[in-house]
Amino acid sequence: MVNGDGEPTAPLVIAIDGPAGAGKSTVGRALADRLSVGYLDTGAMYRAMTFAALRRGVVEGALDEVAAMAPTVDITIEGDTVIVDGVDATVAIRGREVTEAVSQISANPVVREVLVDRQRAWVSEHGGGVVEGRDIGSVVFPGAQLKLYITASARVRAERRVREIGGDIDQVEASIIKRDRVDSSRDHSPLTEAEGAVVVDTTGVSIDAVVTHILELLR
Ligand code: DC
Repeated sequence: MVNGDGEPTAPLVIAIDGPAGAGKSTVGRALADRLSVGYLDTGAMYRAMTFAALRRGVVEGALDEVAAMAPTVDITIEGDTVIVDGVDATVAIRGREVTEAVSQISANPVVREVLVDRQRAWVSEHGGGVVEGRDIGSVVFPGAQLKLYITASARVRAERRVREIGGDIDQVEASIIKRDRVDSSRDHSPLTEAEGAVVVDTTGVSIDAVVTHILELLR
C-alpha cells in the first residue's frame, strides 16, 4: 500500500486481546466487516493444533512430542470452516475435549512459535486485518495501529457462554476463571494488556455500541 505521496504505508492491523467470552470475536468480526478487511481468529488455530494433538494421541505426551508435531499440522481457516490435516474440524474444535486441552497445548513454546509465524504470514498475505487472540498486541503485532483489550466480568462472560452452548452457570463461570488463570500465568506469552492497548469493558454494553466506540477511536 502507498500513501498520497507514493510512500509505502504499513497495512492496517487491529490487535484484539482479552479473556475468553469477553466478546472479542463478535466485535472483531463486526469491525472487520465495517472496515472491509480480513479477520483472523488465532484461538481457532490453537484449537486446531489441539484437535490434531488429540487425534495423534500426543496431548498427554511429553512437551517434545507436541513440539515435533506442531510444524507438520496443516490448518486451513476459511470463514468459519476449519480444516485440520484434511479433516473438517469446525465443530470439534469448539467441543469439550478440545476446550479442556487447549490451554495445555497453547502453553507449548514451539506451538506458539509455529502459529505466530503463520499469523504474521496471514497478515502479510491479506495486507492487514483484524487479528484476535491473547498475545496479539503484546507479541505478534506490537506495532499494530490499534490495540484493544476487550474484557467483561467473569459472570457476564459465563452468562454469554451458557446462552451460546448451555450448561450450568456456576460451573461455566468456574471453568472460565480457571482458564483465565492458566492463560495469564503461563511462562510463554501470557494473557496481558499490551502496552498502549485501549481497555474496552463490554459488561452491560451492546456489541453495536462497542463497535461504534472503536470506529471512533480509529478516526
Ligand atoms: O479464543 P479461544 O477461547 O478460542 O482460544 C482458545 C485457547 O487458545 C485459549 O485457552 C487461549 C489460547 N490462545 C492463546 O494462547 N493465544 C492466542 N493468541 C489465542 C488463543
